[in-house]
Amino acid sequence: MPEVTVCTTSTIADGTAQRFDVEGHRIAIARVGETYYALGDRCSHEDFSLSLGEVDPETCEIECARHGAAFDLRTGEPMSFPATQAVATYEVIVHGDAVSVVLP
Ligand code: FES
Repeated sequence: MPEVTVCTTSTIADGTAQRFDVEGHRIAIARVGETYYALGDRCSHEDFSLSLGEVDPETCEIECARHGAAFDLRTGEPMSFPATQAVATYEVIVHGDAVSVVLP
Protein backbone atom coordinates (compact mmCIF):
# COMPACT_ATOMS: atom_id res chain seq x y z
CA MET A 1 0.00 0.00 0.00
CA PRO A 2 1.73 3.17 -1.15
CA GLU A 3 2.18 6.03 1.25
CA VAL A 4 2.02 9.36 -0.57
CA THR A 5 2.98 12.71 0.94
CA VAL A 6 0.32 15.26 0.06
CA CYS A 7 1.11 18.41 2.03
CA THR A 8 2.75 19.84 5.10
CA THR A 9 1.08 20.20 8.48
CA SER A 10 0.78 23.98 8.06
CA THR A 11 -1.05 23.64 4.72
CA ILE A 12 -4.33 22.90 6.48
CA ALA A 13 -5.54 25.33 9.12
CA ASP A 14 -6.90 23.81 12.31
CA GLY A 15 -10.61 23.09 11.98
CA THR A 16 -10.67 23.07 8.18
CA ALA A 17 -10.39 20.63 5.30
CA GLN A 18 -8.77 20.73 1.89
CA ARG A 19 -9.05 18.65 -1.23
CA PHE A 20 -6.11 16.79 -2.73
CA ASP A 21 -6.03 14.69 -5.87
CA VAL A 22 -3.66 11.83 -5.24
CA GLU A 23 -3.02 9.20 -7.88
CA GLY A 24 -6.64 9.08 -8.98
CA HIS A 25 -8.08 9.41 -5.48
CA ARG A 26 -10.01 12.57 -4.62
CA ILE A 27 -9.27 13.02 -0.93
CA ALA A 28 -10.42 15.51 1.70
CA ILE A 29 -7.93 15.96 4.51
CA ALA A 30 -9.32 17.55 7.64
CA ARG A 31 -7.39 18.83 10.62
CA VAL A 32 -8.58 18.80 14.22
CA GLY A 33 -5.83 20.14 16.44
CA GLU A 34 -2.74 18.13 15.56
CA THR A 35 -4.73 15.20 14.20
CA TYR A 36 -5.37 14.79 10.48
CA TYR A 37 -8.14 12.70 8.90
CA ALA A 38 -8.53 11.67 5.28
CA LEU A 39 -11.86 10.87 3.63
CA GLY A 40 -13.00 10.34 0.10
CA ASP A 41 -13.88 13.84 -1.10
CA ARG A 42 -17.25 12.83 -2.53
CA CYS A 43 -20.35 13.10 -0.42
CA SER A 44 -22.18 9.78 -0.67
CA HIS A 45 -25.46 11.65 -1.13
CA GLU A 46 -24.83 13.52 -4.36
CA ASP A 47 -21.14 13.50 -5.15
CA PHE A 48 -20.40 16.93 -3.69
CA SER A 49 -16.91 17.89 -2.48
CA LEU A 50 -16.78 17.28 1.29
CA SER A 51 -13.71 19.48 1.64
CA LEU A 52 -16.00 22.47 0.98
CA GLY A 53 -17.91 21.60 4.14
CA GLU A 54 -17.45 22.64 7.72
CA VAL A 55 -15.34 20.69 10.21
CA ASP A 56 -16.78 20.38 13.72
CA PRO A 57 -13.84 19.77 16.06
CA GLU A 58 -16.09 18.85 18.99
CA THR A 59 -17.90 16.01 17.28
CA CYS A 60 -15.02 15.20 14.90
CA GLU A 61 -17.38 15.45 11.93
CA ILE A 62 -17.51 17.23 8.61
CA GLU A 63 -20.78 18.61 7.31
CA CYS A 64 -21.46 18.54 3.61
CA ALA A 65 -21.97 22.09 2.37
CA ARG A 66 -24.64 21.05 -0.09
CA HIS A 67 -27.44 19.46 1.96
CA GLY A 68 -25.93 19.21 5.42
CA ALA A 69 -25.17 15.52 5.90
CA ALA A 70 -22.47 15.02 8.53
CA PHE A 71 -19.76 12.37 8.35
CA ASP A 72 -17.57 11.05 11.14
CA LEU A 73 -13.99 11.99 10.24
CA ARG A 74 -12.66 8.85 11.94
CA THR A 75 -14.87 6.29 10.23
CA GLY A 76 -16.48 7.98 7.22
CA GLU A 77 -19.89 6.90 8.53
CA PRO A 78 -22.82 9.24 7.89
CA MET A 79 -24.10 10.77 11.13
CA SER A 80 -27.14 12.54 9.68
CA PHE A 81 -29.42 12.53 6.65
CA PRO A 82 -29.67 12.84 3.74
CA ALA A 83 -26.54 10.69 3.38
CA THR A 84 -26.98 7.03 4.30
CA GLN A 85 -23.74 5.50 3.06
CA ALA A 86 -20.22 5.84 4.39
CA VAL A 87 -17.43 7.49 2.45
CA ALA A 88 -13.97 6.00 2.11
CA THR A 89 -11.36 6.67 4.77
CA TYR A 90 -7.60 6.63 4.38
CA GLU A 91 -4.90 6.17 6.97
CA VAL A 92 -2.94 9.37 7.59
CA ILE A 93 0.69 9.35 8.69
CA VAL A 94 2.50 12.48 9.88
CA HIS A 95 6.30 12.44 9.78
CA GLY A 96 7.69 15.71 11.08
CA ASP A 97 5.75 18.28 9.09
CA ALA A 98 4.89 15.98 6.18
CA VAL A 99 1.31 14.69 5.94
CA SER A 100 0.92 11.45 4.01
CA VAL A 101 -1.99 9.22 3.14
CA VAL A 102 -1.89 5.49 2.62
CA LEU A 103 -3.61 4.50 -0.60
CA PRO A 104 -5.37 1.14 -0.90
S1 FES B 1 -24.55 16.29 -1.56
FE1 FES B 1 -23.84 16.07 0.48
S2 FES B 1 -25.64 16.04 1.67
FE2 FES B 1 -26.35 16.17 -0.37
